[in-house]
Amino acid sequence: MRQARAYAIAGLAALVVGAVAFAQSETVPLPEETPVEAAPLDDNAVASLAETQWGDPQNGATLAGTCAACHGLDGNSVIRDVYPGIAGQNELYIAHQLALFKSGERPNAIMQPFAAMLSPQDMRDLGAHFSAQAAQAGIADDGEVTEGPYEGLKFYEVGQTIYRRGDPERQIPACMACHGPTGAGIPGPSYPHVGGQVSWYTTRRLQEFRAGTTHERDRRLFDVMATVANRLTDQEIQALASYMEGLHARPDAATRAQMAQLEGTVEVPTRGGPGATGDSVQTEMPEVPAGAPGAPEVEPTDPPQAPAPQAEEPPPAEPEPQP
Ligand code: HEC
Ligand code: HEC
Repeated sequence: MRQARAYAIAGLAALVVGAVAFAQSETVPLPEETPVEAAPLDDNAVASLAETQWGDPQNGATLAGTCAACHGLDGNSVIRDVYPGIAGQNELYIAHQLALFKSGERPNAIMQPFAAMLSPQDMRDLGAHFSAQAAQAGIADDGEVTEGPYEGLKFYEVGQTIYRRGDPERQIPACMACHGPTGAGIPGPSYPHVGGQVSWYTTRRLQEFRAGTTHERDRRLFDVMATVANRLTDQEIQALASYMEGLHARPDAATRAQMAQLEGTVEVPTRGGPGATGDSVQTEMPEVPAGAPGAPEVEPTDPPQAPAPQAEEPPPAEPEPQP
């Protein structure tokens, strides 16, 4: 097993494949393309992650100086139109993507030289630093859809529906099942944080998954998303990206009180302890589909010193746009 990894991706992938088995679909074969070669590509970059341990956020913060010009020191993009955010992204997911840039399996002319400078442990240290930062959210588009199957809905509502419920008839699973109600993802290498991400980037990633082509040698994780994205229309991809740009953990009690005053309608629930779910604004939280991977059980990280898996976050009260 050339690409054996320290974290139990194989077991996890099996779980995931089980979860989306109902959405079987074929993916397009990979066309011949030369990956970028700005710096020498390291074939072993992904496999080398197996010898790393949980990242050291302090060293990560030092290394993050190199990334700051584009991603910001705290991982919130400096120019949202050009660079994706990486704040709040999972430690191992960041390390894994950096390794993919370094090996050329995820060809990107901008990121490849930066990734090439990093040791496998650096990647995890950077992951630990950025995963501890709070992601900013943007604003979802609440313009009205004027044509097509979703005519009359607000644009972000199209995305919201798919994000929360999927479309069982078309075998599209709810995004929330794997990325969480607030887009926080699941700690580990597999289910990335997607809340607040800039919409152009989410759109492009979804198009890449839908196209089904990748240079990744171990394409199991890619294929999970390729299967999910396979049936999405252009309009749905854009609406999802817009909704997700506005998606974030719900605001604190003070902000909610202010919003309640503004609207004069919503009731402000008191913030409970960990795991509290009381939320009087949210009225239609759907069930997570049976068989979907639940958050903590699939935690695949090996390091004993890893932070405990985050408690399931309460349902999002305000993933909506803030016009
Ligand atoms: C010159 C600008 C620039 C610098 C410096 C830079 N990046 Fe990036 N980064 C980008 C761009 C552009 C992308 C989007 C790549 C794409 O289009 O797929 C990206 C993507 C990423 C991703 C993938 C995000 C995801 O959600 O999959 C990670 C992780 C990342 N960068 C981490 C870093 C780290 C860590 C550093 C510092 C060592 C760094 N970047 C330095 C421009 C930069
Ligand atoms: C069965 C689990 C599962 C479901 C359901 C799911 N995803 Fe994913 N998603 C993943 C995995 C696994 C990855 C990482 C893929 C990789 O590493 O190449 C991912 C990656 C992504 C990314 C890339 C993030 C980044 O930083 O580059 C986006 C965007 C995304 N998913 C959006 C969605 C949307 C939108 C939906 C609903 C239509 C959805 N996902 C449903 C498992 C899932």
